[in-house]
Amino acid sequence: MSEKVGVITSGGDAPGMNAAIRAVTRYGIMLGYQMVGIRRGFKGLLDDEFMTLTLRSVSGIINSGGTMLHTGRCPETKTASGMNRAIKTIKELGLSGLVVIGGDGSLAAGNALSKRGIKVINIAASIDNDIYGTDETIGYDTALNTAVEAIDKIRDTATSHDRIFVVEVMGREHGFLTLDVGLAAGCEFIVVPEMKYDIKKLADELIRGKERGKTSEIIAFAEGVGSSLEFAEKITKMTGLEVRVSNLGYIQRGGRPTARTRILASKFGFEAIRLFKQKKYNRLVGITDGKVSSIPIHRAMRCEKKFNEKELKVLRNLSI
Ligand code: F6P
Repeated sequence: MSEKVGVITSGGDAPGMNAAIRAVTRYGIMLGYQMVGIRRGFKGLLDDEFMTLTLRSVSGIINSGGTMLHTGRCPETKTASGMNRAIKTIKELGLSGLVVIGGDGSLAAGNALSKRGIKVINIAASIDNDIYGTDETIGYDTALNTAVEAIDKIRDTATSHDRIFVVEVMGREHGFLTLDVGLAAGCEFIVVPEMKYDIKKLADELIRGKERGKTSEIIAFAEGVGSSLEFAEKITKMTGLEVRVSNLGYIQRGGRPTARTRILASKFGFEAIRLFKQKKYNRLVGITDGKVSSIPIHRAMRCEKKFNEKELKVLRNLSI
C-alpha cells in the first residue's frame, strides 16, 4: 500500500493556492503517494470532510483564484480538544503526513500538529507577505497587482477632481503589502503599523504638494493602523482640502493568479513533496534570495519578518 499524504488550504485564501494544490498533488502522485484533499481548512479535519485527489481532479486550476478545497479559519485548532480531533481524523484516514498551504494561522496549526508527532510541511501562502522564512508568499504578487491596478484607476478620478485619497490596503497587522503598493502606484505617502507617523507633518506635506502643483495625492493606508475614515477626517480638518476614502477590501484576495504567483506556487508545491520524500519534515517552504528554501516551522513561528524602512525613503523622494 502506498503512503497517503493530506493536503489542506487554511486561513484566508490567496491566489495561487490552486496552483500549489496542483503541484503537490501531481508530484506526490508521481512519487507514488496517494493524495487526499482535506476540505474547508482544518474544519474539514474536525468534521471528516475530504476528497481523493487525482491527476485529473487538479486539471485546469493553475489559472484560477480561490481554492478548490475551500478554506476557513478554525479557532478549534488552538484548543487541545480540537487538536485531538484533528489527530484522530489524520489517524483514521491513514495519513502519513500533511501539507498545509496557508499563512500565519496555518503555520501555528502546523506547528501544533508537528509537536504532536504528525509529519507536516507548511507552504507559505498569504496576500499579506508577513511570514518569516520567505521573501514572498504565494498570492502576494497577485494581490499587489490587483491593488496597484485599482489605485491607477483611483488616480484618474483623484486627478480630475484635484482630490486627496486615502486608500485602505489589507495586510492584517503588517504593512508589507502597503509599502509595495505605495511604491508601485507612485503613492505620495504610506501609513503602516510598523512605523510611527506625525499626522500634522503629513498634513503639512500634503499642502506643500498642492503648492508644488500636484493635482492628486494618494496615501496608501494599511488596515492594521486603524480607521482610515477617522484618519481621512483628521486630514480634511487639518488641510481644508477635499479628501476621499476608498477601501480596496476583498478584491485583493481574489482573481486569477499572476504568472509570478503561479510559478512560485508550483515550485513551493514541488519542494514540499521533495522534502516529504527525503523525510525532512516539519519545515516551512518559501523563497530566499531567488531560491526555493525551507526552515523549521517552529523557527518561522518564533521570528518576525523585518520591515524595510529604507524603502519608504525611496517612495517619499520619488513622489515629490
Ligand atoms: O490574511 C489575509 C487577510 O486578507 C488579511 O489581509 C485580512 O486582515 C484578513 O485576512 C481578513 O480576514 P477574514 O477573511 O477572516 O475577514
